[in-house]
Amino acid sequence: MQKTNEVQRLSKRVAELKPSGIRKFFDIVATMKDVISLGIGEPDFTTPKPILDAGIRSLQNGETHYTSNYGKLELRQGVADNLQKLYNVKYEPDEVLATVGVSEALYLTFMAILEPGDEVIIPTPCFVAYQAEVILAGGVVVEIPARLENEFTIDPDDIRKAITPRTKAIFIGYPSNPTGAVAPREVMIEIGKIAEQYNLIVVSDEIYDRLVYDFDHVCFPALDEGLRERTILLGGFSKAYAMTGWRIGYACAPKDILQGMLRVHQYTIMSAPTTAQDAAIEALKSGEPHVQEMRTEYDRRRRLLVTGLNRLGLSTFEPRGAFYTFPNIRASGMDEETFAETLLKEESVAVVPGSAFGPGGEGFVRACYATEYSKIEEALHRMERFMSRHG
Ligand SMILES: Cc1ncc(COP(=O)(O)O)c(C=O)c1O
Repeated sequence: MQKTNEVQRLSKRVAELKPSGIRKFFDIVATMKDVISLGIGEPDFTTPKPILDAGIRSLQNGETHYTSNYGKLELRQGVADNLQKLYNVKYEPDEVLATVGVSEALYLTFMAILEPGDEVIIPTPCFVAYQAEVILAGGVVVEIPARLENEFTIDPDDIRKAITPRTKAIFIGYPSNPTGAVAPREVMIEIGKIAEQYNLIVVSDEIYDRLVYDFDHVCFPALDEGLRERTILLGGFSKAYAMTGWRIGYACAPKDILQGMLRVHQYTIMSAPTTAQDAAIEALKSGEPHVQEMRTEYDRRRRLLVTGLNRLGLSTFEPRGAFYTFPNIRASGMDEETFAETLLKEESVAVVPGSAFGPGGEGFVRACYATEYSKIEEALHRMERFMSRHG
């Protein structure tokens, strides 16, 4: 009998997907004691009480059924009103789809818009799921660099150089995971011009839009009506409202594209979790003071970590959004994998090697400050000891 192996049993698309460099690393962390983790990118806060209570009430009221495939109208209207209020961009409720986080929205996006072989331009380093979702949908990833000398934003000329007749979309994700970079308005406007010139779709992951520090978030589809018509905006509740475990987010897009995404969603998910939808409705109603409070605390931790890392000789670009720092670790004489592994082994501090986020991450690690202030202080003490041995 023929021997079965993974490549025969799994599709080529799936077999060739790389395991996430983050998960691999945290499997090791899970086996260790007293680790201070600056690793996983999720809020350490529990979901604010009014939102929690809304979820509990929803269950107790017997809201235990499917909703419309789109998601509850109240949620979609709430998302649309919120975007109008924050960025003055207008979406109708049937241009909003409630999803199982931005994660699902990414899957729907590429399933809906890509033919096999269509190319998507993605600046790297970036969130680990972007390339995988393009590949799963049969697309081709074209990576361009988001360089430190451009404060980890995109050089529009790099986009122009990457365009071919097969280019279907440009992907942007600001504020950025893993660098904390934000996109200045001028850069966004240039990207918009290119998208118009080459008739491209823009996919904008704005999940960290509410976590910006001394910076006004630029919502891409709000730049002008023409751009709104070619943009798929992805957003969510995970980060700003500390709701990662609820699995709720949304996609906003012109009707024709949203209908396509809805078709994929209805056959794969049916409807986003009902409890989470009710909690998200409450988040939009009463979550704002909590968002502000958490953001103020992240900002305090951000300043502690950036100053501390720079003091240790780990040169760190000032992040203006999300909750990540991206220090250059070359002063340690190690590459990023060795640095992360040795730091974990010797001092029980977990960071993620920058190369887990794609090309351009070499020589950097990601250190997340969604961790208590006192733990960041202790992590910095341990790193100081580490650098005095290795710096
Ligand atoms: C940039 C970015 N996009 C999307 C996601 C996924 O978010 P969600 O919890 O909404 O699926 C994350 C999570 O880390 C992220 O960092």
